[in-house]
Parts: sequence; C-alpha cells; structure tokens
Amino acid sequence: MQNVVQVCADTAWGAEGDGAITHDVEGVVEHGGVLCFPRLRFELADDERRLLNADVADGKAKNISLRGADDAVRGANPAHADALRRMIQRYRAQATTLAERLFPHYRGRLRPGNPSYRPVGVEGRVTSWRKDDTRLHVDSFPSNPMRGRRLLRVFHNLNPHGQPRSWRVGEPFEDFARRYVPAIPKPLPGSAALLHALHITKSRRSEYDHYMLQLHDRVKADLAYQRDAPQQAIDFAPGTTWVVYSDQVLHAAMGGQFMMEQTFYLEPTDLQTPASAPLAVLQRLLGRPLL
Ligand SMILES: [Fe+2]
Repeated sequence: MQNVVQVCADTAWGAEGDGAITHDVEGVVEHGGVLCFPRLRFELADDERRLLNADVADGKAKNISLRGADDAVRGANPAHADALRRMIQRYRAQATTLAERLFPHYRGRLRPGNPSYRPVGVEGRVTSWRKDDTRLHVDSFPSNPMRGRRLLRVFHNLNPHGQPRSWRVGEPFEDFARRYVPAIPKPLPGSAALLHALHITKSRRSEYDHYMLQLHDRVKADLAYQRDAPQQAIDFAPGTTWVVYSDQVLHAAMGGQFMMEQTFYLEPTDLQTPASAPLAVLQRLLGRPLL
C-alpha cells in the first residue's frame, strides 16, 4: 500500500514564516493523505498539566467538548470546567490558524465544529461493534446528516507519558467503496422523512448519508476486511499534530490517551478538487446524484 502520510517539519501554528513552512496542501488531504507535524506542539501552561488526568472527565462521556455560542463545557468534572474551557478554546484558535495557513483555498469557508479534549484512553471504552473505533471506518454519524459536507479534523497527542496515539489507516476511499457499494440497497422510500419526523436525525438524511452510514457499518462488521485489507500502522508520538479528512480516510484508533481534536466542516463545492470527495466518488459508482 502506498504511504499516505506526509511528514512536515513545521514548528509553529501561525501564518507563514519562521517555523510555519507548509502551505497550499489542499491536494494532499483531498486525495486521502494525512498531514503529520511531529514538531508542532500544543503547549500547556504549568497549571494545565493537572488536566492530563482522566478524572477531569465526568466519568460518563468519552470526550470533553465546548458547545454553543457561550462555549458551555460538556463531559467535564465541574471542578475543572473553567480551566478546560480555556485550554480547549486555545486549541481551537491554534487549529484554526493552522488550517487557514495550510489551506488558503478554504479561507472563510471552514466552519468549526465543537472542539474536544479526550482524556480517556482508547482501550476499554467500547460499548458495541458499531461504536468500536478500533475497527477501520470512515466517520459518519447517524443523527447528524452531512449532505456531502466534509469533515476535516486537526488532532494533537498531548500524552505526558510518552504514549503514542496509534492508528491504522486503510486503502483509498474509492477502492474501499467499490467493495461494498454494489450490495447496499437504496434507502426505503419515506425513511428519511420518518427519521427526521421522529427526531432521530437532526435534519433530513440524504442518500449520501445513507451510503456513508452503510459503509461505516459494513466495514466495521467485516472482520475479514479488518484483518486482511491493505492497511498501514501509524504511531503519532506525543507532541504531534495531524490533519485528515476523516470522512474519506479509513482509520482505526488502536491506543492512546489525552488527545485534542478540532473538526471543520466544508461544503463539497468549496473543495479544490470536488471530484476526489466521497460524494463525487459515490455518485460516480452509482451513476446518479445523491443529494
Ligand atoms: Fe473515526
């Protein structure tokens, strides 16, 4: 399998200049690459080191995230909520600066999602095969239809004990989709309206979302594929930042603890090469529009 990781030597998040050397790399991520910055550190203040502890979470959620216009903290032990908010807000700001520098074509088009901090280890958090992110998958969420919108994610490993974030990444999206798409039935007539009316989905599920969810579920359920399909192991050492379209790159999180994550949404029409996006690939394979 071709190496999908492009390693970049950047040491700064900011605009082009000293230590911030990579730019105009839309094509790398749009074609399924992983941009990896082993020297791009998210620095913690001395009094934030105490947040590198699973006890700062509320014990129920696997993520601590900021929600809404007032950045309400979700999933945290209330004693640490203010410090967590400041840390996560700073990560969002740095991830935004980085994305705008790396991808000038997207400037003004990236819409930030809820940033999160994941203080709980990957091991032992699994509740069902469908939620098991140690299995290769592309990101797709049952309640949140994307209608072709992209999921660009900026991750950082904060682990203070030298533990990497260990991923597996799989074959190119089109090769993966070709294996499963022919066997996926069309959505039942009226099902999208019903799911929306029952508030199972936050908006109407498009055919695109139907196929993306089916791909997510079918590949996770296919243990032979998980074992035998082309794949590459990647260890992201502490202090590493990485950027990827997680709706396109097959990935599995095998281990690690203490990670930052910021998602950006982008309309498929704002891509530099819309033809490489999952929406375009699926439409080509099926021979019809999915929106
Ligand atoms: Fe994922």
